[in-house]
Amino acid sequence: MAGIYIHIPFCRKVCFYCDFHFSVSIRNKKVMINCIAKEAEMQKYYLGGDRIKSIYFGGGTPSMLKTNEAEKILNSIYKNFDVDNNSEITFEANPDDITLKYIEDLKNIGINRLSIGIQSFFDDDLHWMNRRHTAQQSFDSVIMSNEGGIDNINIDLIYGIPGMSNDKWKSNVENAFSLKIKHLSAYLLTIEPKTVFGHYLKKGIMEDVSEDTAIDHYILLKKLASEKGFIQYEISNFALPGFFSLHNQGYWKSKKYLGIGPSANSFDGISRQWNIKNNSEYISSILKDKIPFNKEIPGKMEKYNDYILTSIRTMWGTDLELIGNFYGEDYKNYCASNAEQFIQKGYLTNKENKLILTGEGQLIADYITSSLFMT
Ligand SMILES: C[S@@+](CC[C@H](N)C(=O)[O-])C[C@H]1O[C@@H](n2cnc3c(N)ncnc32)[C@H](O)[C@@H]1O
Ligand code: SF4
Repeated sequence: MAGIYIHIPFCRKVCFYCDFHFSVSIRNKKVMINCIAKEAEMQKYYLGGDRIKSIYFGGGTPSMLKTNEAEKILNSIYKNFDVDNNSEITFEANPDDITLKYIEDLKNIGINRLSIGIQSFFDDDLHWMNRRHTAQQSFDSVIMSNEGGIDNINIDLIYGIPGMSNDKWKSNVENAFSLKIKHLSAYLLTIEPKTVFGHYLKKGIMEDVSEDTAIDHYILLKKLASEKGFIQYEISNFALPGFFSLHNQGYWKSKKYLGIGPSANSFDGISRQWNIKNNSEYISSILKDKIPFNKEIPGKMEKYNDYILTSIRTMWGTDLELIGNFYGEDYKNYCASNAEQFIQKGYLTNKENKLILTGEGQLIADYITSSLFMT
């Protein structure tokens, strides 16, 4: 099983928290799409013929593509890879790009899962984050997606916003669950240095995210999600049974994936590589038949640390047996002995040799992760 990620590096507006790679200039959009389709062909041997089970259009803003543009990229993938008929094909969309016709067209080209970046159901928050859409468009986008025939829907929300009351966050989550969604990704606001919020924070004109607010919001989120029958299968991801994202699980379970487009990264089971984060340089290189990337072959310790980082956040946990088999008994013993203090304090459980975070442990997940790292 393998996955393909396609990065669409354009946005209409700069959201103040966002550190993803994108450009607001769409001058090169047409040639970019041709280059992405061409890169898929150039990389046709990267996954060694493995069957593709998930395709993910992320960004940036994939919903800035016309459906025939998305189709062009998909056609190149179908032509060059062995894509399973039941693949999960996700498309990230911004609420204000969604119309009934757009959803119907996306469905017709094979998109079967939508991930809508809602962030908040309140206009003041959206305005503060410099989002393009209104709260009403947040609601309408989910309703239209269902009407248009794509009902496997994820929405993204952001919590921990400075000054956001618990009641307001509660309404946000309740609004999410009042809609027909199958999946919710809720991310703690992170202030990245090279963003507008990072700049505000440095200048002292914005409050930082408070740990207490973050914890209150997170506990509320878990409670409401579980009341609605959503399973928390990863710290930030909740889904109804049968709707866990296949694509994300691929990343967390160290499966192979190919990333296409500027800034996309790939893993072939042995090495990792990253495409350049610059649209014009990406285009000029692809036009010269050369993929612009950097590559590294992680050593055993880095691979072990990567495994800890991704596995500990999931409901399946970190598998001590797997560590023993892949990295050796010394790694397994190191991990087990470092985990012991957290097991004693009730932050981790050890079920059949799998280390799983408890609710309390999730609140200090980063600390636990770094304590299990090998340095
Ligand atoms: C690739 S981004 C956005 C996809 C799409 N362009 C959109 O804006 O709706 C995926 C998600 O990451 C989350 N995100 C991005 N930057 C974040 C940050 N600094 N803090 C918290 N969440 C963030 C947002 O919820 C966002 O919807
Ligand atoms: S959050 Fe989405 S729309 Fe906003 S800048 Fe980032 S990628 Fe673009």
